[in-house]
Amino acid sequence: MPRTATAAATETLDPAERLGLEELRALQLERLQQSVRHAYEHVDVYRRKLDEAGVHPDDIRSLDDLRRLPFTTKEDLRQSYPFGMFAVPMEDVVRIHASSGTTGRPTVVGYTASDLDHWAEVVARSLRAAGVQRGWKVHNAYGYGLFTGGLGAHAGIERLGCTVIPVSGGQTARQVQLIRDFEPDAILCTPSYLLTIADAFEAQGLDPRETSLKVAVLGAEPWTNEMRRELEARFDIDAVDIYGLSEVMGPGVGNECVETKDGPHIWEDHFLPEVVDPETLEPVADGEMGELVFTSLTKEAFPVLRYRTRDLTRLLPGTGRPTMRRIEKITGRNDDMIILRGVNLFPTQIEEIALEIEHLTPHFVLELVKRGRMDGLVVKIECTPGVKPVIETAAAEVLKARIKERIGTSVDVEVVPSGSLPRSEGKYKRVYDLRAEDSRP
Ligand code: DLL
Repeated sequence: MPRTATAAATETLDPAERLGLEELRALQLERLQQSVRHAYEHVDVYRRKLDEAGVHPDDIRSLDDLRRLPFTTKEDLRQSYPFGMFAVPMEDVVRIHASSGTTGRPTVVGYTASDLDHWAEVVARSLRAAGVQRGWKVHNAYGYGLFTGGLGAHAGIERLGCTVIPVSGGQTARQVQLIRDFEPDAILCTPSYLLTIADAFEAQGLDPRETSLKVAVLGAEPWTNEMRRELEARFDIDAVDIYGLSEVMGPGVGNECVETKDGPHIWEDHFLPEVVDPETLEPVADGEMGELVFTSLTKEAFPVLRYRTRDLTRLLPGTGRPTMRRIEKITGRNDDMIILRGVNLFPTQIEEIALEIEHLTPHFVLELVKRGRMDGLVVKIECTPGVKPVIETAAAEVLKARIKERIGTSVDVEVVPSGSLPRSEGKYKRVYDLRAEDSRP
């Protein structure tokens, strides 16, 4: 079982985390007014959109006026590729990152020195919430480069006063070696990559529970509580969720508290969250599901106004940090939703069900195929090594039946040999659409 967490939450909350609700709301309003004015005055796209909506920065008098602002979408960012939505002169932009994007052009984001300072602050706060402590060694296996994960986490690790081990992603055998030799206390990577690392330990006859690791701070892709339990048991660690996206900052827009593990707290002094109905775009009440939308409150180089994340979740009251609202653990994005013969399905639903069934592993991919004129879904999944074929068949049958029962749709389940599916080295690609052409790499 994971070690019991120390009282990290109460140990060193930073001043923003200690603000009372009224003070926090006043700070948000002041920052919102500045951010809207900054975006309006320095970014043509925002000025045009606000003018078209008939809203002027002076009209923002309360936090409720947020809903008068127009939304920003990924398409807006794409159209201004590469630097069209930067709000400061290029000489003030000290760093650029880009999100790879599954289709078309990447989204390019920029940071001033002050933005990087705030980013390091929120990542340090995130790691502290995750139970990471000053003085620890932290193995950072998020990818370094244009992806925000590696460098974003890096600065926060240093800011917290830890020793950063900047390994980046990939070269799994080397990751295993470095974990054994350097004895880090915490690891940062995607949950699917931690699974790859666990398998690599076991393939060498090593027990991952014997490592020095105490905490894993995992994010950049949807993952379930079942996956959390699997990783916690395999490494004997606490596995904590870190959330973020490049357009809004990178990792550290929010983070779970290790004490509660009940969904990331959003760092509301920097990022103002809303949840809207994805169809009507009307804000929904806290507690209701919808699409997460963010307005940045302190960003200089790349302010965002009501940016539609496409992530589906709900806003919940703060727990470990009482004034900062949480989001429910994100289990899907609008874009990963599979609509199979009219039924909506997310890969995380399959993950959740598969991990409840003995002998099945979290190693699976989903293939969308054409069956005559109908769409079909094939779940290709690995069983734990050494399981007899008859047991494999039985486990596959159970999975098929539970998917039908819980999600309401029939799928095919195929058990494939252990080790045959691609392994994650970062964000894991689970869905392959083979309906039109062979899109398998
Ligand atoms: O993935 C930033 C990040 C790096 C977050 C490292 C956490 C750790 P992007 O590449 O722009 O940025 O992808 C952002 O990834 O909109 C979500 O769909 C998904 N995502 C990020 N964190 C989580 C999470 C980084 N904890 C997109 N749970 C987001 C579920 C997540 N999905």
